[in-house]
Amino acid sequence: MALITRKIKGTEDVLPKQSYRWQFIENIMREESRAYGFKEMRTPVFEHTELFARGVGQTTDVVQKEMYTFDTKGGESVTLRPEGTAGAARAVLEHSLDNEGLPIKASYFVSCYRYEKPQAGRLREFHQFGVEEYGTQSPVADAEIICLAQSVLDRLGLSGVHLEINSIGCPECRAKYNQALREYFTEYKEQLCQTCLSRLEKNPMRLLDCKSPEDHKIAEGAPKITDYLCEECETHFGEVRKYLTCAGVDFVINPTIVRGLDYYTKTVFEFVTDCIGAQGTVCGGGRYDGLIEELGGKHMPSLGFAIGLERILMVMDAQGIEIPNTDVCALYIATMGDDAKQKAFSLLRQVRECGTAAETDSVGRGLRAQMKYADKIGAKYSMVLGDNEIAENRAKVKNMESGEQTELALDDSFAEKFAVLLLADEKAFKI
Ligand code: HAM
Repeated sequence: MALITRKIKGTEDVLPKQSYRWQFIENIMREESRAYGFKEMRTPVFEHTELFARGVGQTTDVVQKEMYTFDTKGGESVTLRPEGTAGAARAVLEHSLDNEGLPIKASYFVSCYRYEKPQAGRLREFHQFGVEEYGTQSPVADAEIICLAQSVLDRLGLSGVHLEINSIGCPECRAKYNQALREYFTEYKEQLCQTCLSRLEKNPMRLLDCKSPEDHKIAEGAPKITDYLCEECETHFGEVRKYLTCAGVDFVINPTIVRGLDYYTKTVFEFVTDCIGAQGTVCGGGRYDGLIEELGGKHMPSLGFAIGLERILMVMDAQGIEIPNTDVCALYIATMGDDAKQKAFSLLRQVRECGTAAETDSVGRGLRAQMKYADKIGAKYSMVLGDNEIAENRAKVKNMESGEQTELALDDSFAEKFAVLLLADEKAFKI
């Protein structure tokens, strides 16, 4: 086919047959976050560029290399959101949500845009589920959001995803650490890539998550932030670990986790798996006590995480986790003649009002072709309506798998009786 164009590199379509998979994981995320007191928020897909430049950080890969930024016709520079945290924080500030009491707990589903090199698990348009909590410095909150992420992953049935945590301290301990990093990396100046060289003075911590394999090797021997934490950060980190242990959440401390975004302070964490290749981080998050101030608000210590939906689905596929398909047509009514068509129409309304998915011919096909279609869409039951059925006001519904037939009256009780039949049939899905 000579299509005029195809989808943009690094983007994916979710087709009607696949959407139940997305809805399944999204429902679990909604339910779990609601149980922890988070309420959903929705923010625009684009924001003023300065929000991300200031919020995510000028020296990050995301801001320097990966943003989809363009000028509007009005001459404003806008950017497609590369992540959800900055936009959520902007909305919290703009609507003064702190007046409604702290902490503020928000969750979201967002599409994100990063101009990265596409590979398995790394897209240019991808989707995140995230939560953000504003206005608490308590380590209980850190442990609580980590528990929430763990609950989501557990309920999805994932195995072999482990939690790595670290503390990257506050600006005070970071200053000493940055100096130690500068001294360490300066010795390797000749071998560093251009990007690292340009970040060495301003933000040496970014050198720790450089994607170049050579620089990565050098970074392995760099000083560890955990040796530079101030007393307060050390205590905070200890408390987070204590509460995680209380909740029975397993973790390992990985002092090399620094995260790729500049707003983090103190606790950072990632849930990682090795079953989907190099892009194995399914969830990342942490505390960002300075972000709200950076964006013009008052001091409001905050924290959150985001889970990549595409990566979750990849893990579920890799681990053979079956996702129940509830997008199934429970009843297909095939018709012969105009009277039957009208009867089918009124019966369908009844059945659908009970929440059961049901269909009939909307193309004008003959009976055989209608039955073929019913088979193709995987209808659980079918029913043929013709003049005889209309005259007798009764018809047989047929279980498409077993062939078993049950006669039902075509009156006001039809939907209810069909629902009972569906319930009794363990293999059929009630929608
Ligand atoms: P992030 O680590 O950049 O953090 O992204 C979070 C998750 O989004 C990753 O763990 C991964 O699952 C997914 N992800 C990131 N980039 C891609 C990509 N190119 N293709 C597919 N999936 C991807 C953040 O975005 C922070 N805003 C998280 C956060 C919320 N921190 C505090 N609150």
